[in-house]
Amino acid sequence: MKELKKIAVLTSGGDSPGMNAAIRAVVRTGINESFEMVGSMRGYQGLIDGEIVPMHSRSVSNIIQRGGTILKSARSKEFYEKEGRQKAYDKMCRMGIDGLVVIGGDGTFTGAKIFGKEFGVPIVGLPGTIDNDLYGTDFTIGFDTAVNTVVEAVDKLRDTAYSHDRLFIIEVMGRDAGFIALGSGLATGAEMILIPESPTYIDEMLHLLEKDWKKNKTSGIILVAEGDDSGGAMKVEDEINAHFPDYDTRVSILGHIQRGGSPSARDRVLASRLGHAAIMNLKEGVSGVMIGMVDSEIELTSFEKSIKHHQAINLELLDIARILAI
Ligand code: F6P
Repeated sequence: MKELKKIAVLTSGGDSPGMNAAIRAVVRTGINESFEMVGSMRGYQGLIDGEIVPMHSRSVSNIIQRGGTILKSARSKEFYEKEGRQKAYDKMCRMGIDGLVVIGGDGTFTGAKIFGKEFGVPIVGLPGTIDNDLYGTDFTIGFDTAVNTVVEAVDKLRDTAYSHDRLFIIEVMGRDAGFIALGSGLATGAEMILIPESPTYIDEMLHLLEKDWKKNKTSGIILVAEGDDSGGAMKVEDEINAHFPDYDTRVSILGHIQRGGSPSARDRVLASRLGHAAIMNLKEGVSGVMIGMVDSEIELTSFEKSIKHHQAINLELLDIARILAI
């Protein structure tokens, strides 16, 4: 095994709160272990373009509390192609970079898996996505903050829903996972939670709604994950209006607000522990894995498995949420 000297860290795909805390942990642990540390700007694109910045201890001062990513993020189209990856590898060789820590979600790990196999580059990954949709970690960096952001927004919408006797249909992120909707739905007492992991039957939804209103509910919240098979909040509203024209409905799509903001304490701690573990494992010769946290312990999962086996959602929580909203 070639001795590692210079390690690059990058953030790729959709950003998530806590990515900066992870960069800080990677850089400072790397320095402590006598590695030369650099950052690649805009994910893999920085490797292709040679946009590499030196990372010192002070480069990561005052960022643990900041949302977004100081290294910026992108979904590099060029890196999807062999030619782009070859360019990235050539630049890495020229700059003497011999190891990588990539922070991102499934797209980031797919790229890392291919790149690592093609060129034998030692790479470890950290789960950075608000979606929480990676296997091999109880939580991804950014998920907790995103749920808290949604909870704050839904609480506010609940106030106005109550005042006006309205039914709010709120769409949250989660391209193909319902973790944000389920977590925030339970935390806000949503009347209904629609997620991709559980089929949405419109008839059943309408029936449940009618039951609610017969119980004299005058306002309510339906939380819809953007990847739900209902087609999203607008479609759900159309169905409700078509069947119950007397309901006063409003749609609110929370969107990218969920990706920003200062990371929660939980996300900062997770990012710090995983960032430290990333360097210690690279140093030991580990490669091709995502570093996650399961039951408060560091766990390594191959990129392949972490992407393929989307962690299971606890569907029982949907029933509990429903019971608690009667
Ligand atoms: O994967 C994270 C995520 O925020 C998804 O929940 C969402 O579907 C997607 O990214 C949005 O991506 P973009 O920022 O490219 O619109």
